[in-house]
Amino acid sequence: MADTLTITDNRTGQKYELPIQEGTIRTTDLKQIKAGPGDTGLMTYDPAFLNTAACRSAITFIDGDKGILEYRGYPIEQLAEHCNYLEVAYLILFGELPTEAQLNTWDDAITQHTLLHENVKKLMEGFQYDAHPMGIFISTVGALSTLYRDAKQVFDQEARNRQCVRLIAKVASIAGYSYRHSIGRNYVYPDNDLSFTGNFLNMLFKMTELKYRPNPVLERALDILFILHADHEQNCSTTAMRVIGSSHVDPYSAIAGAAAALWGPLHGGANEAVLRMLEGIGSKNNVPAFIARVKAGDGRLMGFGHRIYKSYDPRATIIKRIADEVFEVTGRNPLLDIALELERIALQDEYFVTRKLYPNVDFYSGLIYQAMGFPKDFFPVLFAIPRTAGWFAHWEELLRDSEQKIARPRQIYLGPKRREFLPRDKRT
Ligand code: CMC
Repeated sequence: MADTLTITDNRTGQKYELPIQEGTIRTTDLKQIKAGPGDTGLMTYDPAFLNTAACRSAITFIDGDKGILEYRGYPIEQLAEHCNYLEVAYLILFGELPTEAQLNTWDDAITQHTLLHENVKKLMEGFQYDAHPMGIFISTVGALSTLYRDAKQVFDQEARNRQCVRLIAKVASIAGYSYRHSIGRNYVYPDNDLSFTGNFLNMLFKMTELKYRPNPVLERALDILFILHADHEQNCSTTAMRVIGSSHVDPYSAIAGAAAALWGPLHGGANEAVLRMLEGIGSKNNVPAFIARVKAGDGRLMGFGHRIYKSYDPRATIIKRIADEVFEVTGRNPLLDIALELERIALQDEYFVTRKLYPNVDFYSGLIYQAMGFPKDFFPVLFAIPRTAGWFAHWEELLRDSEQKIARPRQIYLGPKRREFLPRDKRT
C-alpha cells in the first residue's frame, strides 16, 4: 500500500497524488491544485489550528484519548514520583535525564543566576501597589532583554545557553518579587542553600526569621506541580513562543509574549478562574444549579475540558493525590467539597460525558495553591515559572530546525473588492 493520498479536483477533473509522511500531508503540496490560470492554489482553512501540525518536535508526547503524557519518552507519573523540577527541566531542555554530575553542575548554574540586577528591582518597585503579579511578571521578563545584550545573538549556541540558565533561574526570583510587591512587603533575596523550590518559597514567605525553612511536604508538593506544568507541547503559549521566536527576536521578549498568552482564563489563567468559580458557587448545595447554568450556555465549568485530552488529564490525577498530602499539613481547603461535587455530577452528566469533558490540570491545582497560602492572582505566575523550561526548549528546537521560517499564515480575504478613494465630504 502506497503512502500517498490521491485527490481529484472536481472543478477541473485533474488528479493529484500527494505523499503522506508521519500521517501528514504537506499543505504546500496542495498549492499545485489550481482551478485555472490566476488561481494561487488550494489552501487549507484551520482556525485555531484544530488539525494542523506546525512543527516536528521531539519534546513532549500526548495521547489525548488514552490520557498519556510523556516528556522525552518518560511517563509523567514516573517523573513526578522520582525527579525534582530542575532534573525534569534539564530533561526537557537537553533531551536526556542528567547524570549525578550533570545535575550538580546544572543545579549550581541555576543557583548562581537567581539574583536579579538591582535595576530590575527598581523597575518592579514602579508598579502600582495592587498590580496583578502576572502583569508584573510579564513586563519584567520582557525588560530583561534590555539587560542582556547578548540575548540578541540567537544563532550563537553559547549565548543561547546563557539565556537559558538565566531565564530558568530568574523567572522564580521575578515571581517572588512580584508577589512581595503585590502585598507591600520587602523583596527577599535568594537563599542559595535551599533547593530551587525551597528558595522560591523563601522569597515569598520569609518574614523576620534569620533563616527560612520550607515545610518539606509543601516544598515537594510544589516541586511536583512544577514538574507537571513544565511542558505540554503545542499549546497556546508555546505556539506564541514559537511564532514570536520565528522572527528571531531575543528569548526574553518571546517569553514575555508566551507568558501573556498563558495568562488568559482559557489557558494558564484557568487555575485562578476555577477558584473564583468555586467561591462564587459558595456551597455544595448550589452545584446542581451551577451545572444547569453551564449547560444552558451561561459560562463554563472552569478547569474542565481540553483540546487534546478526551479522557482524564493525567496531571489532574497526580494533583488530586498531592492535594491529600498538602491538606494534611495545611488543613483541608473547604472549597474541595464543592470541587468534588462538581466533578461527581459532571462525570455522570450527559452534557459533559458526550463532549468528553474531564477535569484538567487546573481543576485541583488552585485548591492546593490556596491552601499553601498563595493568593488567587498569583496562580498563573506559578504556572509560568516551570513552563519557562518548555517554552525555552521549543524555542531552541525551532531555531535548530532548518525547515522553520518566520511564521506567517494565510487568510481568506472577505473584505470589499478594490474601490476608489472617497474625499471626506463625499462620505456618508
Ligand atoms: N464547560 C462547559 N462546556 C464546555 C467546556 C467547559 N469547561 N469546555 C468545552 N465545552 C463545550 C463547548 O461549549 C462545546 O460545546 P458545543 O459542541 O455544544 O458547542 C464543546 O464542549 C467543545 O468545546 P470547544 O470550546 O470547541 O473546545 P476547545 O478544544 O476549543 O476548548 C478549552 C478547550 C480548554 C479552551 C475548553 O474546554 C475550556 O474553555 N475549558 C475551560 C477553561 C480551562 O479549564 N482551561 C484550561 C485548559 S488546561 C490548561 C492548559 O493547558 O492551558
